[in-house]
Amino acid sequence: LASAPPLALADKYFQLRPDELNPLWGNPCDDIRHRRIWSKSKWCGTLPKVLVIGPQKTGSTALYTFLAMHPALAPNLPSPTTYEELQFFNNNNYLKGLDWYLNFFPPNMSNTTQITFEKAYSWYQHIRSHGDVVANNYTFHTVITANDSAPKPLRDLRNRCLNPGKYSHYLERWLAEYSSHQLHIIDGSLLRSEPAGVMNTLQKFLKISPHIDYNKLLKYDAKKGFFCQAVGNDRTKCLGKSKGRIYPPMEERSAKFLKRYYTPHNTALSKLLVRIGRPVPQWLKDELSSNG
Ligand code: A3P
Repeated sequence: LASAPPLALADKYFQLRPDELNPLWGNPCDDIRHRRIWSKSKWCGTLPKVLVIGPQKTGSTALYTFLAMHPALAPNLPSPTTYEELQFFNNNNYLKGLDWYLNFFPPNMSNTTQITFEKAYSWYQHIRSHGDVVANNYTFHTVITANDSAPKPLRDLRNRCLNPGKYSHYLERWLAEYSSHQLHIIDGSLLRSEPAGVMNTLQKFLKISPHIDYNKLLKYDAKKGFFCQAVGNDRTKCLGKSKGRIYPPMEERSAKFLKRYYTPHNTALSKLLVRIGRPVPQWLKDELSSNG
């Protein structure tokens, strides 16, 4: 039996077990031995109990903002490096470890009755307006219909635009880890048109109190074309310019292409929702019925 200094030993270990190279963070407080060796300044009570998950451009900022208005909920501290989301679970920040993640939920941030939450990540017009060269050089239709022999940047953008809409694929992955009772699915189009109703149902699901009436907190802003926070004297505070952009309507041929492209994914989504006993949203019924 040979030994070596810790780093050399670790190198040797991971040469033998490369499958264990990626860490799998768990809750340190689940295991008393971990809790004992963990820093005194860390406290598991601040790990978020609620995660907002979903693809980009589905109203997640609106949802996050509306949740933050609730006195029983405390959002993460803003991140200077990752824009809106902390992006812990979906990129290299995961390798920075649980302490990095926990810095956004310091113990003094919430009072003990508050539940912390964050928005995990969950695009063409969005990155086009951010100056993306590929999105500015190719039309939306060219991007979404690019075939596998197209240049790589174009294929990458196509995948970036199309993959997030395969909702059932991602939901199945979450359902492999969490029971369906832990999952509350929000219809993005309802969040847009009737946010108060959506927020009232969500509060019941989260079992948080006091129950607050979002009809009184949100107000439709005709200029913005969206519901915004009511801030008194008939004034509103809306989300920034990048949320609720105005852009030309989609070409009919693109809409047709997308409808065909998503049919198998939407069929799978409808089956998944029925399987876990959730209502099939109107937009999904419409999509599937007009294909027949
Ligand atoms: P558009 O700007 O394309 O219309 P995300 O925050 O996940 O990036 O989602 C942005 C989308 O949220 C916007 O996309 C907009 O349609 C939608 N949205 C839903 N409710 C909104 C609200 N109250 N204010 C602004 N945008 C809202």
